[in-house]
Amino acid sequence: MRVFTDKRAMRAWSRSERAAGRRVALVPTMGSLHAGHLSLVDVARRHADTVVVSIYVNPTQFDRADDLHAYPRELDADLARLGGAADAIFAPHDMYFRGEPPHETWVEAESLTQTLCGAARPGHFRGVTTVVAKFFHVVEPDVAVFGDKDYQQRRVIERMVRDLDFPIEIVAAPLVRDADGLALSSRNARLSPDARTQALSISRALFAARDAVADGATDAIAVAADARARVEVAGGRVDYVELVDDATLRPIAHLDRPAVLAIAAYFGGVRLIDNIRLS
Ligand code: PAF
Repeated sequence: MRVFTDKRAMRAWSRSERAAGRRVALVPTMGSLHAGHLSLVDVARRHADTVVVSIYVNPTQFDRADDLHAYPRELDADLARLGGAADAIFAPHDMYFRGEPPHETWVEAESLTQTLCGAARPGHFRGVTTVVAKFFHVVEPDVAVFGDKDYQQRRVIERMVRDLDFPIEIVAAPLVRDADGLALSSRNARLSPDARTQALSISRALFAARDAVADGATDAIAVAADARARVEVAGGRVDYVELVDDATLRPIAHLDRPAVLAIAAYFGGVRLIDNIRLS
């Protein structure tokens, strides 16, 4: 497994792979890898001959300095966790120009970022789309894999790729849960045992909503309100509970189209997100 920290060396190697006729996949991550990330690598392997995993904690997508500083950085452990599952790691020390005049060019999807995490974390998606666009320019992959745990992120990246003509196929990978239902996240490691137990209310609320819809519920506002109540009763501090149109990511009142129930909530100071498709 090759490890690159330099953008030019990464690009040269990726180009040599493509010149040799190999299809290159990129799995962008912020490290602290877990089984959810490894499932993205598996999906990438099914779509390409060469798999590159990027590991970079992107400062521009954090809206709170304490969250950025608390984010785990464990490159050596990540390399061990990958255990050769990827062909190359791109772990730059920095992705941004730090001289004068400073970096000032940003990529932003305007409408899809107005709701959910885009509304709750101002500037978050601008940081995500900008750094992912930079990764795409450095690695020049044929395909990139994004997990549906970050559902809005995946949709925003697809929109960016369409709008800016990146010749890259975006592959969605299913969300992975622990046996008890908790969506896998690098942030789970920061949960106390009590907070982790409380956090199960998120997936339980999502599953209850799915069951209610399967039983004929169509009032989206009532379904979302029920999910919110379940998380709050368990001790979660809700950031948002929204039932949104799958295409626009805007809140809906009636379940008359494909929709997504998305939840963001804090447990013991740790912000978790999760979602479920409802149809
Ligand atoms: O999903 C993440 O881990 C990050 O948002 C990403 C896509 C690696 C960009 O920093």
